[in-house]
Amino acid sequence: MQQKPTNPIILSGIQPSGKLHIGNYFGAIRQHIEMQDKGRAFYFIANYHSLTSLKDGKALRQFTYEVALDYLALGLDPDKATFFAQSDVPQVTELAWILSTLTPVSLMEKGVSYKDKIATGLSPNIGLFTYPILQAADILIYHSDIVPVGEDQKQNIEICRDLAGKFNRAYEGDFLVEPEEYIVKSVATVPGTDGQKMSKSYDNTLAIFDQPKALKKKIMSIQTDSIPLEKPKDPSKDNVFALISLFASQDQKQKIAQKYLAGGYGYGHAKKELLTLMSDYFAEATERRRELNQHPERVYEVLQEGAKKARIQAERVMQPIREVVGLHRSF
Ligand code: ADP
Ligand code: TRP
Repeated sequence: MQQKPTNPIILSGIQPSGKLHIGNYFGAIRQHIEMQDKGRAFYFIANYHSLTSLKDGKALRQFTYEVALDYLALGLDPDKATFFAQSDVPQVTELAWILSTLTPVSLMEKGVSYKDKIATGLSPNIGLFTYPILQAADILIYHSDIVPVGEDQKQNIEICRDLAGKFNRAYEGDFLVEPEEYIVKSVATVPGTDGQKMSKSYDNTLAIFDQPKALKKKIMSIQTDSIPLEKPKDPSKDNVFALISLFASQDQKQKIAQKYLAGGYGYGHAKKELLTLMSDYFAEATERRRELNQHPERVYEVLQEGAKKARIQAERVMQPIREVVGLHRSF
């Protein structure tokens, strides 16, 4: 039984495979930022992971920068959290390889994201097949204690614990720490403009920092039913209302629900209300982002400093591992 640490290492990652959207915000980013005060936080931009789906170097570089910009604008404090890009810590791919030599193929075959890809008819690459091993290395390389993730990541965390155990048993020692999963209590799944789960892969997102014109256009395109303006509507069955609920205070939410139920209030009205609520909610962060974007060198400096700290911790964990598995190093 491992003891609960008093100052736990909290680690999480987010893929830079597109612009971050409000599903990412309410499902992950907000909790990451809240947790930066709860221990030693390590947050990274999972660019190696994005390579499994994105084959455009320019886009990957741009999204990586934007994810960093978004997190900093939304309140990530580099004095509290170690914030870096995954590829700046080469030890992580080194550990991933070592773990892969202990991973049964059958364990990967059970992977949900891999199975999902096959189900959609796409032929998955080996990188996607072994994705959970790289994710395990991301976590284990820092001796992470707590990993805040959404429900969809539960299986990957279980695989990570499993691999840590396999390594420790194979080499008879406490080399790797089995992390606790911490499933964030997020709002229910955030719906996209088409009513399905909001996701970068479905082209149905409201990006946190969409330009006002683009945001308006997307909000106006949210699918609703065709109940006429004058008729009463059920807010609990409407996407626009589900999105409004993310941004509105309890009081505002109740008032809008009453307007739905009273009739004479159309979806066009509700969409305008959503646009105002969302723009107000992110107004300060939008301003911070605009200012920061005028100094990209500051954003890169944060990532560089973060990576330095992350590499020190990673090397500390990696040295005894190289030693015990018998890897020779001449430098
Ligand atoms: P996407 O589906 O857009 O590619 P990711 O799979 O990269 O998003 O998810 C990154 C994080 O954001 C995960 O922790 C996930 O739980 C959360 N997340 C993504 N979409 C949503 C959503 N629609 N509602 C709530 N949380 C979400
Ligand atoms: N797989 C995660 C996602 O798609 C991202 C991720 C990569 C991650 N490595 C991680 C999350 C390590 C937590 C810990 O959302």
